[in-house]
Amino acid sequence: MSRPPSPFLKWAGGKARLAPVVLGRAPERFGHYHEPFLGGGAVFFAFAGAGRAPGPHLGDANPALISCYRSVRDDPEGVIAALETLETRYLALGTDERAGCYYEVRAARPEGAAANAARLIFLNRTGYNGLYRENSRGEFNVPHGRYVRPRILDRDGLRAASRALAGATLCPGDFEQACVAATAGDFIYLDPPYQPLTATARFTAYTRSAFGEPEQERLRDAFERLTRAGVAALLSNSDHERIRDLYGERGFGFDTVLMSRAINSVGSGRAPIPELLIDNFGRPEVRAAMER
Ligand SMILES: C[S@@+](CC[C@H](N)C(=O)[O-])C[C@H]1O[C@@H](n2cnc3c(N)ncnc32)[C@H](O)[C@@H]1O
Repeated sequence: MSRPPSPFLKWAGGKARLAPVVLGRAPERFGHYHEPFLGGGAVFFAFAGAGRAPGPHLGDANPALISCYRSVRDDPEGVIAALETLETRYLALGTDERAGCYYEVRAARPEGAAANAARLIFLNRTGYNGLYRENSRGEFNVPHGRYVRPRILDRDGLRAASRALAGATLCPGDFEQACVAATAGDFIYLDPPYQPLTATARFTAYTRSAFGEPEQERLRDAFERLTRAGVAALLSNSDHERIRDLYGERGFGFDTVLMSRAINSVGSGRAPIPELLIDNFGRPEVRAAMER
């Protein structure tokens, strides 16, 4: 039996724990699977592993991330070979030399898609907390992570991810553009950067563009358009009054689930906290489209 697919990157806001809940709530049958805030892809891989991600359309605002997924989809052996070279070199070094190797790889701009994908995976597995952060010039600027035995190359994991991604449409860009591809009878899972619960917990470092209140509103409007188009939509967000208001004032139902987070920029904030799951499954336009 081949291994079920799972994320090959650590990702801030990764939904490994929430994925079974999303899988359990999604409609049993739908047209295409859409996920415009893909990140590490925990939810997509759970759906793909269950054979429930038909004709997937996947996107993210981070173009380097989407290029990496494309390479894993199209050339897993090329990515594995390039990552093996980096892993062998890094693991042979002592702690201090490893930092030097990390910063050298971070500064390098390798030729070719597979080498770039391997670089991103290497930096993700050996960098601080698996974070992805860029400076104002769009350069990756996460410091070295100092793990004793980092798991850099997982051959079978990359091959399983590649099989799950076969046939997937992978587009870099804003969620609004991605939502347009969804049509009546499709299912879409939306996992935006969360509305911060406190001012200090603000975490907007996924890409150069922040995801603030205007984006949360823009997303709510997109959620309404998806509803009118008969697309079954499920969205996760923090249990923040503003988010409850945004969706509640348009009559969308929500539920809270208790979740612990994998990466939290506030060191003490790792206790389980409630998160919101908002869906449009009860709306007549959506019910009619799903029954067709
Ligand atoms: C909470 S993370 C998704 C985590 C993912 N569900 C997982 O399990 O790893 C949110 C993602 O949204 C992406 N993002 C931020 N702004 C965006 C935008 N305007 N449109 C599309 N994606 C965006 C970020 O790059 C990040 O990968």
